[in-house]
Amino acid sequence: MAQLKLQNIRKSFGTTEVIRNVNLAFDSGEFIVFVGPSGCGKSTLLRMIAGLEQVTEGAILIDDEDVTRADPSRRGIAMVFQSYALYPHMTVEENMGFGLEMAGVAKPERRKLVRQAAEVLKLEPYLARKPKALSGGQRQRVAIGRAIVRNPKIFLFDEPLSNLDAELRVRMRLEIAKLHTDLGATMVYVTHDQVEAMTLATRIVVLNGGIVEQVGAPIELYENPDNLFVAGFIGSPRMNFLSARVIGRDGDGRALLTVPQLGLEGLAINPRDRDRELPKDVLLGIRPEHFRADAFEGSTAVSLRCEVFERLGNVSYLYSDIDRAEGIVAELRSQQSVRIGERASLWLKPADCFLFDPTGPRL
Ligand SMILES: Nc1ncnc2c1ncn2[C@@H]1O[C@H](COP(=O)(O)OP(=O)(O)OP(=O)(O)O)[C@@H](O)[C@H]1O
Ligand SMILES: [Mg+2]
Repeated sequence: MAQLKLQNIRKSFGTTEVIRNVNLAFDSGEFIVFVGPSGCGKSTLLRMIAGLEQVTEGAILIDDEDVTRADPSRRGIAMVFQSYALYPHMTVEENMGFGLEMAGVAKPERRKLVRQAAEVLKLEPYLARKPKALSGGQRQRVAIGRAIVRNPKIFLFDEPLSNLDAELRVRMRLEIAKLHTDLGATMVYVTHDQVEAMTLATRIVVLNGGIVEQVGAPIELYENPDNLFVAGFIGSPRMNFLSARVIGRDGDGRALLTVPQLGLEGLAINPRDRDRELPKDVLLGIRPEHFRADAFEGSTAVSLRCEVFERLGNVSYLYSDIDRAEGIVAELRSQQSVRIGERASLWLKPADCFLFDPTGPRL
C-alpha cells in the first residue's frame, strides 16, 4: 500500500508534448482508473510511474519519496500488460517466480510465494504447464500472479483484459475487484471499457490530449461532469448534445430554452451556477437512459421520429436524426417497439438534463 503523487508531470517525445502538466495525488489503497481516447497518454503516464519511460519535467512521489529518477526495480511497483508478456519457454511456476529469482530470493521462499499467489488466482493445477498450453484468461492470471508475488506497493495495469472474450472479461473483472479488496493495494488501471472503469474505480481520471479533464468517483463523473468532454466520455451510449437557445430565466433562476430539434419552447433547466451569465447559444445534454416511454413525475413530452430501432431484449435503442451532426439516441426499457418512420412520444425530466457552453464548460 502506498500513496502516489504526480507533480507537474510533462512528457515530450522529440518536440511533441504528449503529457501536459499533470497533477494527481492518490491515497493508499485507492483503485484509480485512467480513461480517455486512444493516444491521450494513458500508457505513457503509467510507464512513467513504473520507471519504464523518463519524465521530461515534474516529479513522481511514492509515499513522499521522490522516485522520479529511481530505477524501476527500486520503486516497489509491478505492472501487468495487455500482452501478458510471459516467457514461452518457462512453466507457469517459473514465469511467476522469475522476478523473485532476479531479485535474489532463495528457491524455497520463491516456491512458497508462488504457491500462495497460485492459490489466490486458482492457478495451482497449471503450475507445471507452459504458457502455450493455457487459455487467454489463464495466461492473464499468470501475468497478474507474477505481479502479486513481488508484493508491490503499487500495481499498474495497462488494459489487462482487452484480449479476453466478453464472458472471461466479466470473470476477470470480478477477480481483480476481489484482489483489490483482499490485498488492499494501491492500483492504477487503464481501460477503454466503461463498465470496468465504473465498477472497479474508487476514482476515475479522465485524460484528453495529455491533460486531465476531471478526477472523481465514478458516479460523481456520471452525475456531475465538469465539461462536454467528460459528459460525452462517461456513459454509454454517449450523452446527446442538442443546440439550444436561452430565451430568458424563470423566477427560480432556471434558464428557459428553445430546443428546435425537439420542438420545445420554454424548457426550464437548472444551470450549475445560477448567478452566472449564460451565453445565448448553449448545448443541452440529455443521457439516452433519461428518455422514458411513459410520463413520470416532473416529465415533459417530446416526440422523436424513429429512424433506426434496435431491440436488445432488456433495452431498446431508438435513433433519430441520424443524418445530422446532432443525432439523438434514446434508451428505452419498455417492451414496446416503434416502427421506422413513426414518431414516438417520449418523456424526460428537465432536472436530468445538463447545460454546456459550446466551447466546453458546463454551465
Ligand atoms: N516512444 C514514442 N515515441 C514517440 N511518440 C510516442 C511514443 N510513445 C507514445 N507516443 C505518442 O504519445 C501519445 C500517447 O501515447 P500513449 O501510448 O500513452 O496513448 P494511450 O492513451 O495509451 O492510447 P491507447 O488507448 O491507444 O493505448 C500518442 O500520440 C503516441 O503516438
Ligand atoms: Mg495505451
